[in-house]
Amino acid sequence: MKIFNSIKELKVLLASARSEGKTIGLVPTMGALHEGHASLVRRCIDENDVTVVSIFLNPTQFNDKSDLDRYPRTLEADCELLSSLGATVAFAPSVAEIYPEPDTRTFSYPPTDTVMEGAYRPGHFNGVCQIVSKLFDYVEPDRAYFGEKDYQQIAVIRRMVESLSYNIDIVPCPVVREESGLALSSRNALLTAEERKTAAAIYRTLERSRAFASTHSVAETQEYVVHAINAVDGLEVQYYNIVDGDTLADIKDWNDAKSVVGCITVFCGGTPIRLIDHIRYC
Ligand code: PAF
Repeated sequence: MKIFNSIKELKVLLASARSEGKTIGLVPTMGALHEGHASLVRRCIDENDVTVVSIFLNPTQFNDKSDLDRYPRTLEADCELLSSLGATVAFAPSVAEIYPEPDTRTFSYPPTDTVMEGAYRPGHFNGVCQIVSKLFDYVEPDRAYFGEKDYQQIAVIRRMVESLSYNIDIVPCPVVREESGLALSSRNALLTAEERKTAAAIYRTLERSRAFASTHSVAETQEYVVHAINAVDGLEVQYYNIVDGDTLADIKDWNDAKSVVGCITVFCGGTPIRLIDHIRYC
């Protein structure tokens, strides 16, 4: 596996691959790789001739500096994992390489980027679109792979791809979970063993809410989830929205949308660590 820090080197390799008719897949990451990322990389390798994995802790998507400061950084272990999986290139640029000057571009795809994470983390999705569009421009992949754990992020990126006419297939990949049901996340590394156990109540409750939803309204189901999770010592719900799975607009009735998804963010533990998850109702 090649490890590149410069955009130029990356582009040279990709131009040569493209001239040989090879297909290119991109897996954008912020590092601190875990089995969830590994599942994206495996799928990318299966479906493309060349797999580029970017490792870049993108500062423009962090509205809270302390969140950025404590984000786990494990570049060496990340590269070892990618090499063992068989990725072609790990692209790990510096902040100066990506942002030689401040990125002043703005992206706006309401309601996908204004609700939920968009409302609680102002500027977050603008930063995500800044970096993802740059990566799309450097790599020009045929396909790009994103974990469904960040359900809202995929909805925003799909809108960006449509709006900017990128000829790239966005491939959503299923959430990978611990045996307890906790969704794998780089942030889990910041939880104590005890907090990890506590956090498993998030998905357990979401799963139970499916049965509850079959005999209750959207509003009652929303309340059920918030109440049950807040009742667990060490967990506090920031929001739980039941939304149209495509537009992410709130729904009032189960029949208001073809696909219905519940998206949640929960604070866990003393520090506290912000965890996100979702569940499909239909
Ligand atoms: O999902 C992530 O890890 C990040 O938001 C992404 C897509 C790599 C952009 O920095």
